[in-house]
Amino acid sequence: MTPPIPTAPRFMTLPEIRRAARECLPRDHWNFGDGAAETESTKRRNRRHLDRLAIQQNVLVDVRQIDLTTTLLGVPLAWPVAVAPMGGLVLFNPEGDVEMARGAGRGQTLQWLSGATGWPVEDVAKVATAPQMFQLYAHGDHGWMGELLARVEAAGYKAIALTVDVQQYSRRERDVFNRFSPRQAMEIAPNPRGPLPNFQAGLTWADVDWLMKTTTLPVGLKGIMTVADARRAVDMGVKLIWVSNHGGRQLDHTQSTIEALSPIVDAVAGRADIMIDGGFNRGTDVIKALARGARVVAVGRTMLWGLAADGAAGVARVCEIMRDELKINMGLCGRTRIQDLTPDLIFRAD
Ligand SMILES: Cc1cc2nc3c(=O)[nH]c(=O)nc-3n(C[C@H](O)[C@H](O)[C@H](O)COP(=O)(O)O)c2cc1C
Repeated sequence: MTPPIPTAPRFMTLPEIRRAARECLPRDHWNFGDGAAETESTKRRNRRHLDRLAIQQNVLVDVRQIDLTTTLLGVPLAWPVAVAPMGGLVLFNPEGDVEMARGAGRGQTLQWLSGATGWPVEDVAKVATAPQMFQLYAHGDHGWMGELLARVEAAGYKAIALTVDVQQYSRRERDVFNRFSPRQAMEIAPNPRGPLPNFQAGLTWADVDWLMKTTTLPVGLKGIMTVADARRAVDMGVKLIWVSNHGGRQLDHTQSTIEALSPIVDAVAGRADIMIDGGFNRGTDVIKALARGARVVAVGRTMLWGLAADGAAGVARVCEIMRDELKINMGLCGRTRIQDLTPDLIFRAD
């Protein structure tokens, strides 16, 4: 019998996945995904500050075995990367969040389901084969959130992260220029009773307190950028601090997340797990964040390009390439376990 001819994967590099997504998406959808707020300075700074960090190269270490396993909030993970929560996925694939869950499962990657999902949380959970956690938006009052949280818990999600950096929806200038509304594009009918009150704008620490009393799941806050806020959160019992500036999509001209990270890690002092996102596109980016004390890195747009370019297979391919990069570069800097990624590995090199 002739052996089957091995087929090469459709995509070999991350940049070609991004290019394929750009080519297949309508212009407005591409810009909604790739764009950021106003001048897009935050988005650029995230990337610039990652690029100015160098990794120290330690050689003559036996790196035949490299172990990427870790945990988040006690949940075992195959590797320290997660799919960031993203709303509007149906603009990038007809099966949106469900297809993303399939891809995350194939990539053995934790998925954070967006609170702006267009799908029932149960339907997404049903197809998942990797751990899932839920990002919450205050799109209603406590009664509304309480009902949703009960469904999320029953469906098997392992943690909740309340996003706290969307008090106002920012001016995403590419969308404004394109006269593009994601809600309209997704054909979400306007509420017949008129616009809802902006619950997000009214969020305070009292709501965090309420959330922790209402759910049995560990609670995190996504969008923490200062030591003071991180300290206050862990003092209240928040278990996950997610350093994020929403990939530059909310406050323009804010700090980069990689710069905000170290003082927050020091202030939290092990009392909560720490996640980070914003411009992390490569295995080496993950090394930098973990060495500076993050436990897991969330990846938004790069996963989105995988979804747009080739559905679940594209997401799985993004995970595979990033994971390979992480493994190879850990070997090249002489570290074989996640806990060996320590602050001395990284230095500033403009
Ligand atoms: C298309 C898109 C939709 C997003 N929707 C959400 C959302 O519903 N909830 C949320 O907390 N963050 C949302 N984000 C922000 C991501 O969770 C994450 O913070 C950011 O994308 C990370 O930056 P990166 O895209 O450079 O990896 C969204 C980002 C994108 C690109």
